[in-house]
Amino acid sequence: MKVLEAEFMKGFIRMADDGWKMGWHERNGGNLSYRIKKEEAAQVKSDFAPSGWKNIDASVPMLAGEFFLVTGSGKFLRNAVIAPEDSLCIIEINEDGEQFRIVWGLVNGGRPTSELPSHLMNHQVIKQKTNNVYRVVYHAHTTNIIALTFILPLSDEVFTRELWEMATECPVVFPSGVGVVPWMVPGGRDIAVETSRLMEKYDVAVWAHHGMFATGENFDLTFGLMHTVEKSAEILVKVLSVRPDKLQTITTQNFKDLSDSFKVTLPEQFLKP
Ligand code: 13P
Ligand code: ZN
Repeated sequence: MKVLEAEFMKGFIRMADDGWKMGWHERNGGNLSYRIKKEEAAQVKSDFAPSGWKNIDASVPMLAGEFFLVTGSGKFLRNAVIAPEDSLCIIEINEDGEQFRIVWGLVNGGRPTSELPSHLMNHQVIKQKTNNVYRVVYHAHTTNIIALTFILPLSDEVFTRELWEMATECPVVFPSGVGVVPWMVPGGRDIAVETSRLMEKYDVAVWAHHGMFATGENFDLTFGLMHTVEKSAEILVKVLSVRPDKLQTITTQNFKDLSDSFKVTLPEQFLKP
């Protein structure tokens, strides 16, 4: 089968296009990666043409031998739908998890996203954390979350609690909460280490003054998670634009009742009065 005929490719392109339509991917902003299932890779392998090995700038031994579909660096996510073979690539990780090679795509040259270290280190963490279930890592420049990083303290507790309070279903959609990375230089190993450390606890990491990373089992759940967190941030921006304090909100007791009803465990850390 040709790579472009594969279902995972169609799902990936739809997600990139949906993110563009949400306004999260100005210019080349944002990037996406998918850890391809063994049987999916086997179906399209005849379409691969491997190039040379290159350093990842991160060590991901738990991903040795895996294939990933990723966006290209400098590529606009809005173009994934019209020219996937120019915008995207499939990479293979070598046997010690230090190098990758492009096996498909980027037909006009280029390299995988500059955030490849963050994507792969996150994949390594979530693969272990979820016992091989999570496969998608998504980075988007979500307007309202970015705005909040200028006016809220950059702590996991404050961001989680404020976002949970903005919509009743939030603690059900992201019960473990969200982590916050202070401003750091993007595109390298250091920010990758910080972000992947947060992914051990959370499915979402906020990058101060930059955007967000969301992880999940499939395209729908990961996109839905990004959308839910960003929508909650939008409500908070609206509330704070009207007045600096809330007249009423969802209380700690409300969250406890919700966790009983919906059978989700909410960390004590976020249930302080
Ligand atoms: P890339 O074009 O290299 O993916 O970078 C975009 C981005 O959002 C960096 O954080
Ligand atoms: Zn970015």
